[in-house]
Amino acid sequence: MLGNFIYSNPTKLYFGDNALSGLREELPKYGKNVLFVYGGGSIKKNGIYDEVTTILKECDKNIIEDAGVMPNPTVEKLYEGCERARKCKADLILAVGGGSVCDYAKAVSVSAYCDQDPWEKYFLHMEDVDNKIIPVGCVLTMVGTGSEMNGGSVITNRAQKLKIGHIFKDNVMPKFSILNPVYTFSVPKYQMISGFFDIMSHILEQYFSGDDDNTSDYIMEGLLKSLIYSTKKAIDDPIDYEARSNIMWIATWALNTLVEKGKTTDWEVHMIGQSVGAYTDAAHGMTLSSVSIPYYRFIMPYGIHKFKRYAINVWNVKTDGKTDREIASEGLERMKQYMKDLGLIMNVKDLGVTEDMLEGIAEGTFLLDGGYKRLTKQDVIHILKESMSVQ
Ligand code: NZQ
Ligand code: ZN
Repeated sequence: MLGNFIYSNPTKLYFGDNALSGLREELPKYGKNVLFVYGGGSIKKNGIYDEVTTILKECDKNIIEDAGVMPNPTVEKLYEGCERARKCKADLILAVGGGSVCDYAKAVSVSAYCDQDPWEKYFLHMEDVDNKIIPVGCVLTMVGTGSEMNGGSVITNRAQKLKIGHIFKDNVMPKFSILNPVYTFSVPKYQMISGFFDIMSHILEQYFSGDDDNTSDYIMEGLLKSLIYSTKKAIDDPIDYEARSNIMWIATWALNTLVEKGKTTDWEVHMIGQSVGAYTDAAHGMTLSSVSIPYYRFIMPYGIHKFKRYAINVWNVKTDGKTDREIASEGLERMKQYMKDLGLIMNVKDLGVTEDMLEGIAEGTFLLDGGYKRLTKQDVIHILKESMSVQ
């Protein structure tokens, strides 16, 4: 049964190979000062920087650049961005990049006029925003996180060895996002497949929870099938527009607040992955791929009906003469093979995790109630050790 909910998503999307023209329609809605946020420079190599600045100039904006947003943006960078946004009196924050740049833009948007320490207020204490919010727009260059159409913002505090996400409300979601699949063609393979798995993980985090008959689970099975098909095509030909455009669209729908409506969700893989990320600074999707199979094997007995359904509906496992457990296990085996074929990291050691970190990673993992079994700290250590034994 679907639970009660309110659904509202204010982000306007411009999708397709001419999507950037949407920027011309959006910019006049905001004041003159645009904080132009981007990462380590990929947008200068692939030409997106020039395309965006041309339009900003045409629209007579003052461009204030905030470059160097690193993957897994840090709290120190956030403080720096707040200072800059306040100083230039930013009317709009334009994020041009992947999830890290979009997440950072949202964090600056709520923190620039916050009179408390934003790390403590939003990330440690999960408080709501009660100050001025600077509007954010995104030009997405890498798919995976769904940050382009949600309120999520993940910030890393390296000194405290914590990586924490805050899901902000509608008023913090991007006002608009520009989604041009061609922009994703230049993403290096390692980052590309990391993003692919992030999408899969977002869907599974919402799928493997509860056992009701609800439309969301059918939507998610469809998204997963399309994702598996399109990612296989994209591996063979990274500039296959059809595949990359489908993947971009799946990524947005995987985490734009729709499929979670009316049902419970898990998110424990992300909790473990984020803690692994806090210790290793590894690519987000790889932190998820390295713990997913051990985690799902561990919780499978507690949600056997859903794992059986997953095996049949997503991985086409034949059921004849098999027990539920055999069917469910075969589904996870097929998923594992697909992940290996994609080239994903399956062992946390390959991300730099060592035995002496396990205790701390488990300590930094938030333990949630939405999955089929609430983990203990010892369970997290067990899952990490299982990952470390994968060949
Ligand atoms: O820094 P630049 O030069 O832009 O290079 C980036 C970066 O090195 C590169 N890249 C991006 N687009 C490119 C490109 N290189 C060439 N051509 C392009 N078109 O890719 C690298 C990784 O970028 P990043 O933004 O870090 O990746 P991703 O999109 O995976 O974002 C990861 C961050 O998002 C958070 C993660 O925790 C992590 O901090 N997440 C945000 C979520 C949300 N808002 O809802 C949910 C997710 O679960 C996730 O936690
Ligand atoms: Zn994710």
